[in-house]
Amino acid sequence: MKSIISILNVILCVLLLQPNASAEKQIRLEAMESNHQFPFFETQTAVWSYNGQIPGPLIRGKKGATLVIDFVNKLKEPTSIHWHGLRIDNAMDGVPGVTQDPVKPGENFGYRLRLEDAGTFWYHPHFNSSEQLGRGLKGVLIVDEVEKQPWSRDLVWLMDDWLLQKDGNIYPHFNTHHDLMHDGRWGNALTVNGKFKPEFEVKPGERIRLRLINGANARIFLPHLEGLSADVIAVDGKPVTQIFPLNQFELSPGNRIDLDITVPSNAGGKTYTVKDRFTRRQFVLASLKVSQSESVKTPDFIPPTAENYIPPQDFDNIAVSKTWDLNAFRGGQYGIAWAMNSKIWPEADKADYPLGVPQKIKFDNSSTRLHPMHIHGVFFRVLERNGQKAEEPFTRDTVLVGPRESVTIGFIPEHPGIWLTHCHIQSHAEAGMMTTVEVKK
Ligand code: C2O
Ligand code: CU
Repeated sequence: MKSIISILNVILCVLLLQPNASAEKQIRLEAMESNHQFPFFETQTAVWSYNGQIPGPLIRGKKGATLVIDFVNKLKEPTSIHWHGLRIDNAMDGVPGVTQDPVKPGENFGYRLRLEDAGTFWYHPHFNSSEQLGRGLKGVLIVDEVEKQPWSRDLVWLMDDWLLQKDGNIYPHFNTHHDLMHDGRWGNALTVNGKFKPEFEVKPGERIRLRLINGANARIFLPHLEGLSADVIAVDGKPVTQIFPLNQFELSPGNRIDLDITVPSNAGGKTYTVKDRFTRRQFVLASLKVSQSESVKTPDFIPPTAENYIPPQDFDNIAVSKTWDLNAFRGGQYGIAWAMNSKIWPEADKADYPLGVPQKIKFDNSSTRLHPMHIHGVFFRVLERNGQKAEEPFTRDTVLVGPRESVTIGFIPEHPGIWLTHCHIQSHAEAGMMTTVEVKK
């Protein structure tokens, strides 16, 4: 009798565990050579992609769920996948030589991602990165909130630029002297979701969550919505601490913003263009085309904020524990090395910190180039720029450090492991501008 009861108990437990088990989502990703049709050319362009798609498949999962990713490398060279911005188990971070071995051609790697934070993230290789990203390997990963969100539409725009030759092929030289002397590889064809100036149909009265992701190799975007006002509600995968209007927000490679936009109820038939204004030459990125249909009811709500997350005061009485001077010198495998404290990867000047103790880091740019500095696996707050208090009502995982600028950030090491820290201009990183922040239990 007893054993029957215990068997029944086991069965009951298995049944009760079912909902948890189904919170795992299986996804297969294959890095491969494929073709992509750009509208500017008659012939297709040879690209490297995930699952034959440009951009890679949009991956979505709910906060708290686990994504189980079966990754296959069908390229002719090693690769890996890094999940930009996600706070996950360090072993899943996808950095060859730091958290895993490179995935060789024909090999598989299983990534298990427990989704801790709801927000906009993305994924890309972390091996021969300038070339692998430059040929198209990247995609968006969205972690949805547990509760259904009240927006009438959720749009995802992966902004990218490609360096294409007249014949439609991708310019095949990477980490060139020119790229290294300047701000990396800037393309000549700007795309949103792999398309040239795509139009997105929306309805009058709709309230839209527009997620912008900068997946470019090196280009900085300054998005401008003509005739529409927008609020910034999240930056780099985390809700802002205070909602603010989109004005001049520079998105450097790696950065994301989520915007809250209401299409006016009388805007039927109008088209709003979204332009990039970072360079003197303005580019149309995409547009919102409002249909002639009747206006829908505009959802009325206040988006959530991360009000109390690492406020600046948390760092008031803390000294800078690490200053990284950013500069270049002659040398290294490309002739020009990009260094942090005069050291280049893998002979880097590293940082290590105990778990849970707030830290301040300073990036001191002695060069005249741009360095969007990214730390894996954390959200940090910008505290000072050039010694002046910065008042950013949000946290980030990537901060643009301008020519001769210094930026001080604060964060709390919450996840043990070795977290790569580098410039997100791919050519700079490959020419040495990488180090690690190690968080010890
Ligand atoms: Cu987008 Cu090392 O990261
Ligand atoms: Cu840089």
